[in-house]
Amino acid sequence: MSFENLKDIEKEVQQCKSCPLYATRNNIVFSDGSPNAKIMLIGEAPGADEDKQGKPFVGRAGKLLNEFLKLAGINRNEDLYIANTIKCRPPENRKPAKEEKAACERFLQAQINTVKPKIIVLCGATAMESFLDKKLKISKVRGEFFENIKGYEGIKFIPILHPSYLLRQHSTETGSPRDLTLKDLIKIKKTALI
Ligand code: URA
Repeated sequence: MSFENLKDIEKEVQQCKSCPLYATRNNIVFSDGSPNAKIMLIGEAPGADEDKQGKPFVGRAGKLLNEFLKLAGINRNEDLYIANTIKCRPPENRKPAKEEKAACERFLQAQINTVKPKIIVLCGATAMESFLDKKLKISKVRGEFFENIKGYEGIKFIPILHPSYLLRQHSTETGSPRDLTLKDLIKIKKTALI
């Protein structure tokens, strides 16, 4: 892993005009956490808070993510490198368009190839669709490891439910989305240690 490389990639993102989102962003949202992390978490796209602060997962969903990480014993600053499928905020928090994801793909690929994580956590359906079969349903495959993904051999991919969804699901009973997510994160932590 080279910090220099990541800085270069970030500089390129700053100058990127490959899709129209550059015109409406306040800040690019490149990454957070540690470039030495074994676990990389990929979310969907920056929201209003992320666009304001230039950091991923700092709004309400991010705060809930932090709570879950803590419960699972994952240190956000040391154990994780965090990025999104796209680096600029889509207006009104809509999902990223296919063309926007395609325009940003090379940056995410470069981040993965530089950080070289052991595990990639696909946070939500949008991130999952960027790497796994688009027909998969996140509710069915969350918590499952996927290997031998073309171009990313040697990396284990695991989808988890997105914290924005969990914000609307309050139960913590066994088998609830919150309970399953905590179990998924504990499994991720254990696997990263092996
Ligand atoms: N949701 C995401 O998917 N990413 C962020 O950075 C914030 C919210």
